[in-house]
Amino acid sequence: MKKTVAVIGTQWGDEGKGKITDFLADQADAIIRFQGGNNAGHTIKFKGKKFALHLIPSGIFRKGTRNILANGMVINPLALIDEMLMLERNDIYTDSLRISDRAHVIMPFHLELDKLYESLKENKVGTTAKGIGPTYMDKAARKGLRMIDFIDEKRFRIYIRTTLPDVNELLKKHGFDTFDEKELFERFKPIQEKLRPLVLNTSKLVNRYLDENRKILFEGAQGTMLCIDHGTYPYVTSSSPTAASIPLNVGISPRSIHQVLGVTKAYTTRVGEGVFPTEFEGEKAELIRTQGNEFGTTTGRPRRIGWLDTVLLRHANRVNGFTELSIMLLDVLSGVKKIKICVAYRLNGEIIDEVPAAIEDYEQCEPVYIEMPGFTEDITNVQSFEELPENAQNYLLKIEDLVNVPIGIFSVGPDREQTVVMRSFFE
Ligand code: GDP
Ligand code: IMO
Ligand code: MG
Repeated sequence: MKKTVAVIGTQWGDEGKGKITDFLADQADAIIRFQGGNNAGHTIKFKGKKFALHLIPSGIFRKGTRNILANGMVINPLALIDEMLMLERNDIYTDSLRISDRAHVIMPFHLELDKLYESLKENKVGTTAKGIGPTYMDKAARKGLRMIDFIDEKRFRIYIRTTLPDVNELLKKHGFDTFDEKELFERFKPIQEKLRPLVLNTSKLVNRYLDENRKILFEGAQGTMLCIDHGTYPYVTSSSPTAASIPLNVGISPRSIHQVLGVTKAYTTRVGEGVFPTEFEGEKAELIRTQGNEFGTTTGRPRRIGWLDTVLLRHANRVNGFTELSIMLLDVLSGVKKIKICVAYRLNGEIIDEVPAAIEDYEQCEPVYIEMPGFTEDITNVQSFEELPENAQNYLLKIEDLVNVPIGIFSVGPDREQTVVMRSFFE
């Protein structure tokens, strides 16, 4: 029986993972964020309302779901409280939220360190400046702060006391803001109290759900090309958004991931710096940026636009093993007369079908395109594959063929209702 579904970004993030998670959460018992932090920005739209979530799983809008922040995440408690309050103001209750005792905590100085490290880099990553990298650095260096220690007043004091002097010295040296020990204790005291009842061993909890045959959704943040191992290193985030990272980052067996849904835009976008072979500018890019509202949910930056890249999707499929694809924002391509699809790269006169490891080689890659006739019809009310214009149908079939993964869902607008399901989930 298939009881778990992983929702995974196949590109450089912002593929529509939040929308699909919220959509599938209707059938799920628990939704789990397993990596990253509030660098993510997941947009959910229903009944005329629009929400942007950064930390809280996109299942929170569905009554009866449990929503879990697992051990692989890095959590900014201030951002978490803000998000909880935002939801509560909108009558969305967050009682179902649970937080791993082993998740790492982002402190205000990690945000300053993020800015500092970026400023010192010649080749800037263009991070979201949310302190993600520095917090994972501290985790790997075995000097991080975990939730279980954050909510313990005494251990939190010891952490701040032993950590702050070195951090302040470094920040001061480079002209960045420094922090006051006492002010930090006072600021976090009420937050520790609010979060304390939510913190527990979430691995044990999720294992229990699995034993009970409950339906579980794993909500990826970022995308495979931002993966610290399989992405365009060093222009990546500091965690792995792949399906393979779920068992480690949740504390469950690899055998418990049943369906891996690769969420893919009908084209490609990227925010931040780094190589992007199918990127293009001009009128068509502007049309897509406007129709797709392609501005970052977290930072507001205009997203870079490119054609669909199936070399990248085959790479993503190799490292994730997708059981289905979910093709998003298909409606945005309406009015684009000729749609290009990248089917291979040309590197030093040779045709290749992989993402080169060396960023210098990747930058030299020229996309090899095929061209397909576009469609002009408004498809935002389409409810089935058959209702799509023929050219849109052919585009989807071509993607399926080129990536060799069946299309499980396609999406024709930001709203929950604008979703067409072609395969079954959780069965
Ligand atoms: P995520 O980070 O993967 O959750 O994606 P984001 O929420 O950052 O970005 C996706 C954007 O596309 C959001 O503004 C969504 O509301 C929007 N969106 C999702 N699916 C569709 C779709 O099928 N059509 C259109 N027009 N917008 C969509
Ligand atoms: P969602 O979940 C798009 C990008 C940043 C930068 C790089 C590293 O909404 O898809 P970081 O702050 O993580 O150290 O920045 O990763 N990035 C994202 N781009 N969507 C995201 O999340 C992203 N999270 C990080 O722009 O290039
Ligand atoms: Mg996003």
